[in-house]
Amino acid sequence: MLELLEGRRIVVCAGSGGVGKTTTAAAIAMGMAERGLKVAVVTIDPAKRLADSLGLEQLGNEPRRVDGPFEGELWALMLDSKRTFDALIERLAPDEATRDEVLSNRIYQQLSSAVAGSQEFTAIAKLYELDQEGGYDLLVLDTPPSRNALDFLDAPGRLAGFFGGRAIKMFLRPAGLGSRLLGRGTGMVFGLMERLTGVDLLHDLSVFFRALSGMTAGFTERASRVGALLEDPGTTFLIITAPRHDPAEEAIFFHRKLAAASMPFGGLVVNRLHAAPGRNGALPDGLDANLAARVVTAAHEVEALAEREAATVERLRRALGDPPMILVPELDGDVHDVEGLARVRAHLFA
Ligand SMILES: Nc1ncnc2c1ncn2[C@@H]1O[C@H](COP(=O)(O)OP(=O)(O)O)[C@@H](O)[C@H]1O
Ligand SMILES: [Mg+2]
Repeated sequence: MLELLEGRRIVVCAGSGGVGKTTTAAAIAMGMAERGLKVAVVTIDPAKRLADSLGLEQLGNEPRRVDGPFEGELWALMLDSKRTFDALIERLAPDEATRDEVLSNRIYQQLSSAVAGSQEFTAIAKLYELDQEGGYDLLVLDTPPSRNALDFLDAPGRLAGFFGGRAIKMFLRPAGLGSRLLGRGTGMVFGLMERLTGVDLLHDLSVFFRALSGMTAGFTERASRVGALLEDPGTTFLIITAPRHDPAEEAIFFHRKLAAASMPFGGLVVNRLHAAPGRNGALPDGLDANLAARVVTAAHEVEALAEREAATVERLRRALGDPPMILVPELDGDVHDVEGLARVRAHLFA
């Protein structure tokens, strides 16, 4: 792990859902804080007990320091997408009036929840902000539990596409949709809606787009800088996977896409590997015959599982061209707290 992180400022832990991304990200951050660095981990939807154990709160959206025997500092934050998006507006708004107008606007509130809800963009935007302002030696980013890890790579581009794209331009053009909405016919429809619903949708719409028109350039700029962060030589992607067929195939696919997007791949973490039970272990004397038979069967099953997993690891090794690879065993008991993380960390930094 130390070799993989040499000279890096940002580590992105990517992979399919449930393979241990959040756990690995937190354990890496812990390991590097122990080595004297000031580290922040940005977690996304951590398991409740892990969040509690790290002292994370839902509201806050700013890193909090985790107490522990670290020579450096460990900071952790649970991403709040909506707040991250609001903060972006605050930064890009030309003045306070515009900022308040946008933030209180109903259209914005709906739209930002939808955009922020996707989490991919705000995760990277938050990373960018911490990278610019946080004074950390290392940032570790957990990634959203998306069905498709690739959504993450496209997110900045998609948002830039939206703000630089036809939909907005059409609205903002002098003779565009925006002004046509204000025309008499539609104006009457909106007027009727307002009387029926009490919501001045037309006003909301025009305020929203007018306020936003001053910010599209800033947004596009920001989205492209945020996207560039992912390609930075100081950034590395670790692909986290489990030694099972589907996550392994997804890891192979993701690795290919990373290369195609010229994003820096650092290495592979195969998590939750089962070890074959020792073959020579004799059963204790006097064990009930029935129970002994069941122990033998169970041992065979774990052995078969370990063999299948080893074959999957081989498949990964070949498909990824013998990448740097770290194996983490399936651990007994809880890995949901600081002690559990420390055990995962011990394997990652072994
Ligand atoms: N090496 C491991 N041994 C045992 N349990 C693990 C291990 N790694 C992760 N887990 C558990 O697996 C579950 C999923 O891990 P998590 O890190 O939340 O995955 P992801 O973020 O990829 O969805 C959690 O309950 C976690 O405690
Ligand atoms: Mg997770």
